[in-house]
Amino acid sequence: MGMRVRIVLGIFSLLLAVCVMLPGVAMSQTSTADAAAELRKGKRLYKRCVPCHKQDGSGGPSYGGYAANLRDTQLNHEEIVAVITDGRRKKGMPTFKPILSKGEIETVAKFIQTQFKAEP
Ligand code: HEC
Repeated sequence: MGMRVRIVLGIFSLLLAVCVMLPGVAMSQTSTADAAAELRKGKRLYKRCVPCHKQDGSGGPSYGGYAANLRDTQLNHEEIVAVITDGRRKKGMPTFKPILSKGEIETVAKFIQTQFKAEP
């Protein structure tokens, strides 16, 4: 094989590698952007919860009753979604079914889990 052929082949395989890698890089950037957008959305939705659960999720006495501390909730994702959806009216937790869409409830539940629950 001539030297020139080798160089051409080398350049070609390099280009091929770049083409294979680029979509992957682009995709991971999109998902990071998605996660950031989701976080912003969660933060905005959580504003509705702040009057009772406080900015940091610690809860305490509120006009609704003694709001749960969301930082050390023992509930899993499905249970959190269920409480937000149906509320616990007798205990002062309002139902958000008429106010938020299913997607919004999912988003704010994930916000609680990633922003509050994960921290000690
Ligand atoms: C009017 C005050 C009030 C508002 C507004 C409110 N909550 Fe609550 N929430 C409460 C009270 C009070 C409880 C405790 C109920 C109980 O003692 O079982 C509670 C409990 C919860 C629980 C159960 C936690 C656990 O570990 O049992 C979750 C989850 C929750 N709230 C999420 C939210 C989210 C998300 C929002 C906003 C979309 C919100 N709450 C808005 C008053 C409120």
